[in-house]
Amino acid sequence: MNQHVVPTYRERDKASVLHPQTNLLKHLETGPTVITHGDGVYVTDDAGNRYLDSGAGLWCAALGYQNERVARVAHDAMTQLAYFPIFRHQSHGPAIDLSEKLLEIAPVPMSKVLLQCSGSEANDSAVKIVWYYWHGLGKPERRKIITRTGSYHGSTCVTISMTGNPAYHKSFGLPFDGFIHVDSLNYYRSAKPGETEEQFSQRLADSLEATILREGPETVAAFWADPVQGNAGALPPPKGYFEKIQAVLKKYDILFVADEVICGFGRTGEMWGSQVYDLKPDLLVCAKGLSAALLPISALLINEKIFRVMTEESNRIGAFVHGFTYAGHPVACAVALEVLKIYEEMDIVSRVKSLEPAFLGMLDSLKDHPLVGDATGVGLIGGLEIVADKATRKSFGPEVNISGLIEKHARKAGIILRITPGRIAYSPPLIITEDEIAEMGRLTRMALDGAWADVQAASA
Ligand SMILES: Cc1ncc(COP(=O)(O)O)c(C=O)c1O
Repeated sequence: MNQHVVPTYRERDKASVLHPQTNLLKHLETGPTVITHGDGVYVTDDAGNRYLDSGAGLWCAALGYQNERVARVAHDAMTQLAYFPIFRHQSHGPAIDLSEKLLEIAPVPMSKVLLQCSGSEANDSAVKIVWYYWHGLGKPERRKIITRTGSYHGSTCVTISMTGNPAYHKSFGLPFDGFIHVDSLNYYRSAKPGETEEQFSQRLADSLEATILREGPETVAAFWADPVQGNAGALPPPKGYFEKIQAVLKKYDILFVADEVICGFGRTGEMWGSQVYDLKPDLLVCAKGLSAALLPISALLINEKIFRVMTEESNRIGAFVHGFTYAGHPVACAVALEVLKIYEEMDIVSRVKSLEPAFLGMLDSLKDHPLVGDATGVGLIGGLEIVADKATRKSFGPEVNISGLIEKHARKAGIILRITPGRIAYSPPLIITEDEIAEMGRLTRMALDGAWADVQAASA
């Protein structure tokens, strides 16, 4: 009998898909978790297991995993004008409407919007624009970009060079020269004994100034910061940090770029992280929440000072020679506009503010666990410090693979947790309810209990 066995998605995936951020050899053994559908803050895999997604995918699915209303808007936009580029003096309604809307809600006065397809593209384009600006001012030697340890800015060659995490550079021969990383902002891990948060922030600002002086202020183009550091484990800055940092940047006439890719659109309990920490960026990058990840789109906002120099430079050399085929895609713009309308109707900022006490309370309630040293957050973004020893704040060594243990038990418990070295990072969909936040805490505790039992068994 000729029995035809249909290969599973798992087998077909192993044979065909190259997965980002994945151990490729291990994947050939384990295969993927295949997610088949989502509802609200939950997703379900092909074996019928349902998981609470505590990270909104990649900090982005603000409205959860289904949206009929936005689907209709995408359908209508695609029926009217499925695609047209905005290169060379051409435009269309969705790009104009979205740009106007972004300028209207920007945290500081901004002048123009460059629409892009991803956070990486927008940050990469921002670097080019920063360089273009300094060329326009006759100071092409201002090229160095300063970023912070623990900040992720994207995966292109330039944005990964900006990323302050050596694990992302290994075997690529990166970072490029001229991308400088300053100290980690983790007060819990990096403060000296007895140092207050304000003193710690001052030390970071002094260290930034020393770095600028060492490099030569006349060679520094811009400083980049994500208001809450996602890659460092959803880590808010220490008290007074941005005030002190911005004073240093001002002193040396260094441009300030806010990477609001994670923090924009309500995540922090304000429309922008820049509003929480009183940032005054010259350029602002946003993505993720912009379309609630329903279609890929990002945007770069620039102020009038930058735009004025760019207009002159583009006229001098003939054009602003830069662009991506899909940037300003009309369907993605229409989707983003509808998402922004939904945020307005939901009053997303008030919603996140009203959920913040439950969310931070949930994180705090886990501090009694033997694996949890500290909890910090703002709005609906925050994290837990995972420690081997609370008294000394010591981390686990790599031989313990604490991330792997927590992840294994999280999946068993029915929760997707984002575990960065030393921290569990949370950024749930903004539609989450108080009951679901409590559930997130309960499932996290189950995962931590499982990991703790494994740690104890291994050391017994
Ligand atoms: C702060 C920040 N900037 C930039 C990016 C890059 O965005 P994308 O993955 O859309 O290229 C990310 C992605 O997680 C991010 O967290």
